[in-house]
Amino acid sequence: MDLHLTDATATADERAAIDACLGAPESGWEGGARDQARDGRFALGGRAARARRHLLLPALHALRDRVGWVSEGAVNYLALRLTVPPAEIFGVASFYALFDTKPVPPTVVHVCDDIACMNAGAGERIAALERTHGLEGQPCAKGRATWKRSPCLGLCERAPAALVQRAGEGRADSTIAPVTDAQLTEAIERDTTPPRAAEALPQRGEPDLRLLRRVGVVDPASLADYRRRGGYVALARALELGCERVIREVSEAELKGRGGAAFPTGRKWAAVAATPEGPRHVVCNADESEPGTFKDRVLLEEDPFAVIEALTIAGFAVNAEQGWIYVRAEYPEAHETLAHAIAEARRAGLLGDAVMEHRGVRFDIELRRGAGAYICGEETALLESIEGYRGEPRNKPPFPVTHGLFGRPTAVNNVETLVNVLEIVAGGALAYAGLGVADSRGHKLFCVSGAVQRPGLYELPFGATLRALLERAGGTRPGRTLRAVLLGGAAGSFVTPDQLDVPLTFDGTRSIAASLGSGVVMAFDDTADLEAIVRRIARFFRDESCGQCVPCRVGTVRQEESLHRLACGRADRDAELVLLDELDRAMRDASICGLGQTAAIAVRSAVEKLGLFGGDA
Ligand SMILES: Cc1cc2nc3c(=O)[nH]c(=O)nc-3n(C[C@H](O)[C@H](O)[C@H](O)COP(=O)(O)O)c2cc1C
Ligand code: SF4
Ligand code: FES
Repeated sequence: MDLHLTDATATADERAAIDACLGAPESGWEGGARDQARDGRFALGGRAARARRHLLLPALHALRDRVGWVSEGAVNYLALRLTVPPAEIFGVASFYALFDTKPVPPTVVHVCDDIACMNAGAGERIAALERTHGLEGQPCAKGRATWKRSPCLGLCERAPAALVQRAGEGRADSTIAPVTDAQLTEAIERDTTPPRAAEALPQRGEPDLRLLRRVGVVDPASLADYRRRGGYVALARALELGCERVIREVSEAELKGRGGAAFPTGRKWAAVAATPEGPRHVVCNADESEPGTFKDRVLLEEDPFAVIEALTIAGFAVNAEQGWIYVRAEYPEAHETLAHAIAEARRAGLLGDAVMEHRGVRFDIELRRGAGAYICGEETALLESIEGYRGEPRNKPPFPVTHGLFGRPTAVNNVETLVNVLEIVAGGALAYAGLGVADSRGHKLFCVSGAVQRPGLYELPFGATLRALLERAGGTRPGRTLRAVLLGGAAGSFVTPDQLDVPLTFDGTRSIAASLGSGVVMAFDDTADLEAIVRRIARFFRDESCGQCVPCRVGTVRQEESLHRLACGRADRDAELVLLDELDRAMRDASICGLGQTAAIAVRSAVEKLGLFGGDA
């Protein structure tokens, strides 16, 4: 294949970073030293190299971690190593927000200016940064650092938050929350990152917890501690029951996916297991980028072996030998914890060729990092991303259960969904189905943030009301009144104070034209600038649209423009409201994926229920 390389060459550092990820090149055809006797006779690389295309993202990460950015020379070298044209590699690198294709200083501080952080002083942090360190994206600290605004970093309960990326050997990314002006200056000017505040776990150690029972109690680095607290009982039982019975238990428990779509997990697994040919895959979706959502991060950081055990059960049930965990790059601590836990599980024979000494039960897990793209949480975009492509959703059907990762049958499940499986398998479907209510079985995690006294991650049986949840979180601060609750995240909708008695179930929320989404419960009191919040939501969708289909690519831009015109007070209000309505319908009806289909829901609810932008509440 003619790769159309340019003249730029990779530096020694860049080659070392790529080789550390892909292994040393085997021939001159792959960018290594040319040996005429060997390379003059036959070509190495080609098809075999292209089969390693899925290593493109890990290789780009290796470059970013070591040198900070992806240069033209590095792209040429990667092109040779993987036999992928440089233009295509550039197309992939430029898709993801956390890869830079222009030089950047080795330290990049990403300051969240998304909705929870906006409400918690992110604007003041950013104004202070502009005064002391110059504008966003400009080098500061003598060229050693820069700062940028970021969408939600999944630390909303401790808002405002920041992510510190540090390139260079031996340096690592980290997060700070809540972050102060002084801490931002320290992160920018010194090579140290101030520690993150302790996890907000208001229910730590409570006896009725199921999903969070170990969270905040178990040592996440210790497999022995995990096993002491009931870990790996569920996998042992699954191996006893056999795969068909495990799927039956999950179906009878009526477990529904917690990633937002509420699809029955048992049905998904049965469909993958029923496909005539493997290899099959199971994928844990840990991309969690919905603004306001942080539940999966807490599970990954605090109880990583639970996620690994549950994914192993999923793999066993559908007869898959390979599992993948795709975790967003904004979660460096979760990534590190998981990498350690996977290595420990492998060492203990809980992953590998004979899981728990069962001959013929092979299962292993690869850990992959996203690179700053909300759309990669959509399951088919996630699969594209693992395969080394831009994270653009696929047209469905066919669905991943038959045509998933590398075109093979694949079950994609959310972190929280998987953790529920432990409860079902260990305790039985009957006991599990006894929790919650008719359409919504089991317990649910809620990410409570914003204007409440005790923000944090809460677990309640399905059926508790929104009012009860807010009361558990301490209600609003003294002297403040609740104005609205954003339920379900940016793709969810606003709920008014007179709707607080809604039961938090799939059907209950539907009855008030809302949805549970990813479990976001973000409260706003009378001090919030709700129109600014809604405009930030619109900007989020504009930024995160992958641009593949017109209704969403153009619709999200037009929606944001219309809200700005309304906010300035210079617009024909009625005409703008008609336009917003048309945009909503076009995006909902004609977008390829859920991003476009939900991009107007929060805006619409803000206009219709809260009377913002001149709407009739
Ligand atoms: C724009 C978009 C973003 C999504 N982000 C996530 C995510 O971060 N995590 C997740 O589990 N599901 C996410 N989903 C839903 C997934 O496509 C998929 O339904 C889910 O991973 C399936 O797992 P479950 O059945 O266990 O819920 C997203 C969907 C869309 C349309
Ligand atoms: S709806 Fe938006 S995010 Fe989804 S495929 Fe179309 S352009 Fe991409
Ligand atoms: S961390 Fe800032 S909004 Fe979530």
